[in-house]
Order: sequence, then C-alpha cells, then structure tokens
Amino acid sequence: MSGNGAIVLDHVSVRFSPDIVAVADVSLNVRAGEFVSIVGPSGCGKTTLLNFAAGLLPGGVGSGIFTVGGKPPVEGNRDIAYMLARDALAPWRTALGNAELGGEIRGVPAAERRARAIDLLEKVGLKGFEHAYPKQLSQGMRQRVALARTFALASPVLLMDEPFGALDAQTKLQLEDVLLSLWQRDGRTVLFITHDLSEAVTMSDRVIVMSARPGRIVADVPITLPRPRSVRALQKDPAFHELYAHVWSKLEEGLGT
Ligand SMILES: Nc1ncnc2c1ncn2[C@@H]1O[C@H](COP(=O)(O)OP(=O)(O)O)[C@@H](O)[C@H]1O
Ligand SMILES: [Mg+2]
Repeated sequence: MSGNGAIVLDHVSVRFSPDIVAVADVSLNVRAGEFVSIVGPSGCGKTTLLNFAAGLLPGGVGSGIFTVGGKPPVEGNRDIAYMLARDALAPWRTALGNAELGGEIRGVPAAERRARAIDLLEKVGLKGFEHAYPKQLSQGMRQRVALARTFALASPVLLMDEPFGALDAQTKLQLEDVLLSLWQRDGRTVLFITHDLSEAVTMSDRVIVMSARPGRIVADVPITLPRPRSVRALQKDPAFHELYAHVWSKLEEGLGT
C-alpha cells in the first residue's frame, strides 16, 4: 500500500457563497489505519469534507490546511478510494468488470487487477455472481460489488459517504460486518460518514459529532470497545449502549435542543 494514510485538517472552512458557510473551522487528525466516523445533521457539511479531501470542491471555496497522506487535496489522488451511498456501477459491466474498473482506470496490469477483484468479490460474499450484471443483482448485492471495487484499489485512504444508507436493516448489518473484516485485514484509514449513530459506534475508533450548518466539531468521542468486533454481539453490550447514548446527547447539543 503506497503512501501514508494520515488525514489532517487544520482550521478548515468551506464557504460556497457569502451566505452558505458549509463547514466552519474544523480541525481533526486521523491517524493512518484509524477508522473515524463523522455524524451530524443533514446539511452540516459531511459530504463537503469528503469532497474537499478528494479534491472535488470548486476552486477557492475551501480554506485552512487539509492534507491526505501529507499532500494537499488533488483530484484523482491514488491514495484515495471514494465510495458513495448509491452504487455507481456501470450497468454494462458484470460484477467482476465493475470490481476491476478502478484498477483498469489506474493502469493496474490485467492479471493483477482481475485476481484482486475475484478475491474481493469472494470476501464480500459474491462468489458465483462474478458474471452477473447489476440489473440482475439486489441493491444489497450491488453495494457489495461497490465495496469490492473500493477495496480492490490499493489506496491507503477510504472515504465512505453513507455507503449503507440506502440498505434495509438486515443487509446493512451484514455489510457492516464485511467492511469491518476487510478493514481489520489490511488496516486502511477510513473516514466514514453516516447518519446512523449505532453504525458509527459499532465500526469506529472515534466518532466525530458535528453541529448543524455551519458544521463545527462539537465532540470527538473515542470508542473504546475491544476489537475484533461483532456487529450483532455489540447490540447486547451495555458499554455499546452507553457510548451510543453519549454520542446521541452530543448530537442533540449540536442541534441546540
Ligand atoms: N457545490 C455546492 N455549491 C453550493 N452549496 C453547496 C454545494 N455543495 C454543498 N452545498 C451546501 O453546503 C451545505 C453542506 O452540504 P453537504 O456537505 O452535502 O451536507 P451533508 O453531507 O452533511 O448533508 C448544504 O447547505 C449544501 O446545500
Ligand atoms: Mg451528505
């Protein structure tokens, strides 16, 4: 894995127009290999922060210091893999073709990217579906393909914007387990956006709570639950419920309620 996966934000603000300040004065250090979630009300600038990291903001709207792997944001940064809520699969490509797509774009030799894609499709539970097209797959299966495609890239930093937000509760729990085991296997840095506090606490080393727009950090909560974690077992763990209640109270503070 190339590069170093640390993410540093030092007094970062994003102002889209004089009256739209999306993010206000956010400072945050994410260590290489850390799993950090960001929660906060809709419109508080979570997606904006990921877009900033990925070099996708329009010029001039961002300020402060923002580095990923020591480098300022730049579009097409190979240190970053970005996964969204809705699978953006190519409909004319099979599951395997989609899982290989990132490697193809980045010029990874065919045999190598195919081997990685096949391995990851198996890891996400899609062995036997390599040659299925997206329209033949359920939404949960399509999001599994998107997860395989994200992990097939050798990027040390994963940006995930509500990747399981559109899934039913059961499928979501399954995919959270898959993500945790993939992450535990090769220890990449994950910056994970979710509106699901339970998901944030289950997965993360730390949960960052943001206020309503302009988004500021109102709490940085270490999640001290031991690893490896089982998503299901945690639902019955009192320590999990305490942390959940704590994050929830911070979120309410940020809403000013
Ligand atoms: N390209 C843009 N131009 C103008 N305003 C934007 C743009 N992108 C996002 N915004 C605004 O910035 C705020 C934060 O948006 P976003 O980061 O998508 O919030 P979140 O992901 O937390 O729901 C919103 O008010 C949104 O309308
Ligand atoms: Mg968003």
